[in-house]
Amino acid sequence: MNEIKIETTLEVYNDFNELSKAMQNLMTAAIEARENAYAPYSKFNVGAAILLDNNEVVIGSNQENACFPSGLCAERTAIFYAGAKYPKAKILKMAITAASQNQITDKPIPPCGACRQSIAEYEMKQDLPIEIYFMGAQGKVIKSHSLANLLPLLFESSVL
Ligand code: THU
Repeated sequence: MNEIKIETTLEVYNDFNELSKAMQNLMTAAIEARENAYAPYSKFNVGAAILLDNNEVVIGSNQENACFPSGLCAERTAIFYAGAKYPKAKILKMAITAASQNQITDKPIPPCGACRQSIAEYEMKQDLPIEIYFMGAQGKVIKSHSLANLLPLLFESSVL
C-alpha cells in the first residue's frame, strides 16, 4: 500500500480592498449580480462574475425553484451563459460572493462540488487555468490559481 498526498495552496486576502483594482471591479460585478439572486427558499444569495479574454464580463446569480433540484447555482448560471454567448472566448477569472439574508456572511464561500465539476469542464476545454476568487458578504477573500486546484482527482473526459 502506498499513499497519495494531496496538497494545495490558496491565497488569502484580508478583505476586498486588498484585491487589485481590476479584481475589485470583477468582484463588484459579482456583488451586483448577487443582488439579483432569486433565493426565496434558502435566503442565501450568491453572485458570480466571469472575466473573458475578449474583456467581456458575464454574470450569474442563483435561481431557485419550488422544485428545489430545478434551481441552479450562481457559478453555473454564469459559466453556462459565458459558454452560450461567447463559445470561443477563454475564461480567465471568476469572482464569487455569497450573502445570507438571515445573518452576516463573513467567511469565504467556496463553489459547491457540482459547480466545481462544471467549471472544470471549461478549464479542460480551453486548456488554461481559471482563477477563482471567493468571499462572503464581507471579510476575507480566497483565491485559487485554478479550478483543478479545488477539485483533486476530478472526473474528466479522457476516460470516456
Ligand atoms: N449556491 C450557489 O449559488 N453556489 C454554490 O456554490 C453553493 C450554493 C446556491 C444554491 C441555492 O440557491 C443556495 O445557494 C443555497 O444552497
